[in-house]
Amino acid sequence: MEIIITADAEEVGRTAATVIAEALRRADQPVLGLATGSSPVTAYRHLAHLVAAGELDLGGVRGFALDEYVGLAAEHPQSYVSVIRRDVVEPLRMDPSLVHVPDGRAADVYAAAAAYDRSIAAAGGVDVQILGIGANGHIGFNEPSSSLASRTRVKTLAERTRADNARFFDRPEDVPMHCITQGIGTILDARQLVLVAAGAGKAAAIAAAVEGPVSGMCPASALQLHPDAIVVVDPAAASQLALADYYRYVYAHKAAVGAGKA
Ligand code: GLP
Repeated sequence: MEIIITADAEEVGRTAATVIAEALRRADQPVLGLATGSSPVTAYRHLAHLVAAGELDLGGVRGFALDEYVGLAAEHPQSYVSVIRRDVVEPLRMDPSLVHVPDGRAADVYAAAAAYDRSIAAAGGVDVQILGIGANGHIGFNEPSSSLASRTRVKTLAERTRADNARFFDRPEDVPMHCITQGIGTILDARQLVLVAAGAGKAAAIAAAVEGPVSGMCPASALQLHPDAIVVVDPAAASQLALADYYRYVYAHKAAVGAGKA
């Protein structure tokens, strides 16, 4: 893994946007993996700047979101299909017909999840996947104890996650109980992973993901199994990393692309 500790949260977003833009420019038929949550918002804003400046064209880029709530109306402002359209597709001037979100309203959500997994593979796989991290170490909605080999499927949200996400809903009980999420195995199929985190609330999860054992109890620790995973964090999110000084040293002395990878 490459660990990049930036000066602040703004630089987390700028750095992630730079990595993502480079990956998409390199790809013949680029596929971008999208995440919701507050963590990637700064990266999306920087990508939108690049698009507005004419330095990046995402009009032909296909997109696949990580997850969706089950049973929330598409028009609900917190459905991930709404969030992706509002926060990603429109500001990044993507083609809405090329951007996909799991169908949490399908009559058969289990079949919809399996079909979604197949559609990612049929598109040639994800070139670069942006990821946030839950305070409990989840990626997508893969809660602790998820299989590291899991594919896109229906999951029950952890109480901690429902409590964390209650801020987006009128009442805590309005947070759905279930979701469809890409599995950890699905996420690991992406050719490059870029995980972003900022703030002290993510420090324990980042330390477990980067320096803890690879375990389904910390789904983000699966990034240790990926050959091209980048973790971009601000000083607060990095504050529990035992080797923070080493990561800074490695990054400062990075002579060539790839030289920073552990
Ligand atoms: C959400 C999403 C995840 C996200 C995580 C952290 O519920 N399903 O993809 O990474 O929880 O959210 P935030 O970035 O708002 O802290």
